[in-house]
Amino acid sequence: MGPNRPPAVSRSLPGRRLKSPARLVADSGADLEGHGLKRTMGLFQLVCFGVGAIVGTGIFVGLSDSVAEAGPAVAVSYVLAAVTCVFTAFSFAELGGAIPVSGSSYSFAYAALGERTAFLVGWCLLLEYGVSVSAVAVGWSQYLNELLDSLTGWRLPAALSAGPGEGGAVNLPAVVVILLAAVLLARGVRESARATAAMAVLKIGILLLFLAVAFTAFRDGNLTPFAGAGASGVTAGASLAFFSFIGFDAVTTAGEEVREPRRNIPLAILICIGVVTLLYVAVALAAVGALGAGEVAARPAALSLIVDQVTGSAVGGGVIAFGAVVAIASVVLAVMYGQTRILMSMSRDGLMPRVFERVSPRTATPAAGTWIVAAAVAVPAAFSSLDVVVGLTTIGTLAVMAVVNVAVLALRRAHPGLKRTFRVPLYPLSPLLGVGFCLYLIWGTGWSTWTQFAVFLAVGAGVYALYGRGHSRLGREQGAQDTQDTEDTEVTEVTEGAGEPAAVVALSGPPARRG
Ligand code: ALA
Repeated sequence: MGPNRPPAVSRSLPGRRLKSPARLVADSGADLEGHGLKRTMGLFQLVCFGVGAIVGTGIFVGLSDSVAEAGPAVAVSYVLAAVTCVFTAFSFAELGGAIPVSGSSYSFAYAALGERTAFLVGWCLLLEYGVSVSAVAVGWSQYLNELLDSLTGWRLPAALSAGPGEGGAVNLPAVVVILLAAVLLARGVRESARATAAMAVLKIGILLLFLAVAFTAFRDGNLTPFAGAGASGVTAGASLAFFSFIGFDAVTTAGEEVREPRRNIPLAILICIGVVTLLYVAVALAAVGALGAGEVAARPAALSLIVDQVTGSAVGGGVIAFGAVVAIASVVLAVMYGQTRILMSMSRDGLMPRVFERVSPRTATPAAGTWIVAAAVAVPAAFSSLDVVVGLTTIGTLAVMAVVNVAVLALRRAHPGLKRTFRVPLYPLSPLLGVGFCLYLIWGTGWSTWTQFAVFLAVGAGVYALYGRGHSRLGREQGAQDTQDTEDTEVTEVTEGAGEPAAVVALSGPPARRG
């Protein structure tokens, strides 16, 4: 440890490794001018990055599934899903502003709840960021075929554009979009942020275009009966609609590449959630109002169909398909970016192999880690079907979000003086409601998903016990500190940086007697 580095541990309990917020920031080098990653993103780029990570498969493909459950009341389902996200977004905003490092919820859990929970959060993030990329890339491949069809009347053969579970052999377009994203990300965040910004603006434009066209065909009668499937239909629709909101937390993974992160990260998260919620509710209402719930539910590419019908030409549908191809590609880009940054943080802590923390001096990006992630997600993308992993992705994300809300409560108690540029409103009600809504939607995913998730968590706990715990840098420092403490018989008083009151480092092991 360097002479000026904050101590690693704050208020550690025996058998529980907590990392202080000040140390998380110091480890990332986020407060230093010359740290490995470059601060190139401003607020606008960050909002575009967030929208890029959020708007994709969920609204373009998943809208039909939500409508099938909820009917015209799908608008309420989207609001319910948004409310779940809003409370959690407040928590992400508070933590992202207080601890602006790339590890996102993983780092927050490390500071608030300890290393084991942090590892399991990182493990769940492999679902939200890694596995979901495979599924989203498969969705991209489907829309590419829609686009080719409307442009040329020709489609890629199924053997080359679908996995074995969907009647093909290998899904080449899905692999191609992942490799393209890897090229952009490995070249540098400036290029990929520009590309992401352009794509985000374009896809919002496409959805606005859809709204303009669909509302001209809006008929009140299509909204009745409004909630034919009752409250349970609305709830089921909300659980499905939640997938459309996944990704807003990706903003916090850019903590080390953002200018003025303590101001811009909380702002960007809240702007993203607001914009996306308004868009989704409007698109859902416009779609059902124009076509009727039954037709929307029956057509996965309902947005294209509506525009085709209203304009009386296939060109409109082609434009929407083009928008979907762009939208989903930018989700792949943003989510893969998040995965590389989370692995980077875990690798720095010794919980993942060191290759993930290596920053290329030429491009200032974790290039090697990016290519490993690309290879790992390309394999399931090539051979699996779209919906195989959606349930697991959803439950993994909800579990992470529940932990983030708990982390706000824990950090307020453990570090009341920590500099917070944003504070959740109505504390502690907001994070408590956040946990409640997450558990409610987890309940809605059903027992088969719970079982798969339990197995996944058990494997994660095993990996931590066999690899993470032994390789943990914090664990090694703590061990060394324990030895020193035993010799010194001291309990050390330390301060944690500006505004932070003294925190007592009381390391595990019995205090030795003086004498
Ligand atoms: N929210 C992302 C999407 O809908 C996962 O594609």
